[in-house]
Amino acid sequence: MSTFPTRRPRRLRGTPALRRLAAETTLVPAQLVLPVFVKEGATAAVPIASMPGVSQHPLDALPAVVEAAAAAGLGGIMLFGVPAVRDATGTGAVEPDGILNQAITVARDAAAGRLTVQADLCLDEFTDHGHCGVLAEDGTVDNDATLEIYAQMGVAQARAGADVLGLSGMMDGQVAAVRAALDDAGFAHVVILAYAAKYASAFYGPFRDAVESTLQGDRRTYQLDPGNGREGVEEALLDIAEGADVVMVKPTGPYLDVLARVADVSSVPVWAYQVSGEYALIEHAASAGLIDRERAIGETLLGIRRAGAEAILTYWAIEVAQWLRDGKELG
Ligand code: PBG
Repeated sequence: MSTFPTRRPRRLRGTPALRRLAAETTLVPAQLVLPVFVKEGATAAVPIASMPGVSQHPLDALPAVVEAAAAAGLGGIMLFGVPAVRDATGTGAVEPDGILNQAITVARDAAAGRLTVQADLCLDEFTDHGHCGVLAEDGTVDNDATLEIYAQMGVAQARAGADVLGLSGMMDGQVAAVRAALDDAGFAHVVILAYAAKYASAFYGPFRDAVESTLQGDRRTYQLDPGNGREGVEEALLDIAEGADVVMVKPTGPYLDVLARVADVSSVPVWAYQVSGEYALIEHAASAGLIDRERAIGETLLGIRRAGAEAILTYWAIEVAQWLRDGKELG
């Protein structure tokens, strides 16, 4: 006598149409945000060696990048500045004609409301020591002195026309400090995206190249230890209490559990940043012929959405948006 399985989950996997109908996780272009590097003084795009397919852009090429992002239906772009000159306190971050602030205005004008213009709010691109804040005399990163500069930077970015400020420096109290400064300056409408659970990660390696950072030391005194999940949740809750409109978990792959835990308890949207090293891993493995590039990319993005992210920052945003418009199956 043969025994038949009483439950046959395979039934729903039988055809592409059934699989589409049974899909628990979806992705649309409006949930994708493209990080963009703008290099001061550049006259042409500069390819980033550690991130095949990604370039630094000159300011006057930014409208074309914005156009491509808008045409792809993306939810936004996240701007990073690569300044020509750096100093100990990151002066270029707060000057109205600093490269990032100029880029915000150019992007805002080009976007004309079709997508959100977001800006990285952190000092590491602007300091000569490469840390996310200013240094105290003993060489440690001075939390509260940094908050004052973040507040000025936030107002400068809002004045330049940013819709969303991405607070990525991991200083204690940064959300409250920037929120208060924005509100005082008449920018109550500007959105704060808090990089709430940002881990001290090797996966930011290629990004250093992208922004030509000269980091001395590491970021372990302000970014989270990779083994700490509860602390990531605590950081998100603190940022929400300080007024964050959105909280983020970063990187994605090794931290999907943190993303899921934060998504479970967050009262605000949760986004995730698929970082430079995650990008580089797949690009290099694919060009070595080791994995199917498109399936691998789709699989990571579905995983991030499944874990609970409502939007994803990814260097593949434009390409993936095109796949989605073509009706391609992800993963
Ligand atoms: C800080 C910042 C970093 C990234 C985004 N914002 C670098 C860091 O914290 O070391 C990394 C993004 C990536 O690796 O793609 N300005």
